Amino acid sequence: MIKPDAVERGLVGEIISRFEDKGMNLEKIRKLTIDEGLASRLYAEHVEMPFYAELVQFISSGPVIAMEWSGESAISVCRTLMGATDPKEAAPGTIRGDYGIVVTNNLVHGSDSPESAARELEIFFG
Ligand code: RTP
Ligand code: MG
Repeated sequence: MIKPDAVERGLVGEIISRFEDKGMNLEKIRKLTIDEGLASRLYAEHVEMPFYAELVQFISSGPVIAMEWSGESAISVCRTLMGATDPKEAAPGTIRGDYGIVVTNNLVHGSDSPESAARELEIFFG
């Protein structure tokens, strides 16, 4: 998912290109604005975390681009392209390493397991 900061900054094409250039296949794409109900479903695993309120506020602050990507080792390959969660620590050459500084505004979200991918794709695409 391309988060509101990256959409606002006009980085949608750049981010999609990075996954395509690597060899991933774009299967589905949808622009939507996440409301608080959807945010709480998406980030249910983080409800006890101190950053939860800020995360929900941010993710619902503007439109996002939800996508389904397929390809060889798609989850680990996409997360490598994204870089470390905190853009300050993300390697140059990664999306977060090249475009971010602040951990909340880290440009992209990627599912971290087949189970979370199935759950999140159901939320976005039914
Ligand atoms: P994501 O779920 O967005 O792909 O990122 P991730 O797996 O690398 O990180 P995760 O631990 O799942 O955290 C989800 C999102 O919460 C925000 N966050 N803020 N203030 C903080 O310390 C903090 N830690 C995490 C980030 O936006 C992160 O992507
Ligand atoms: Mg995560």
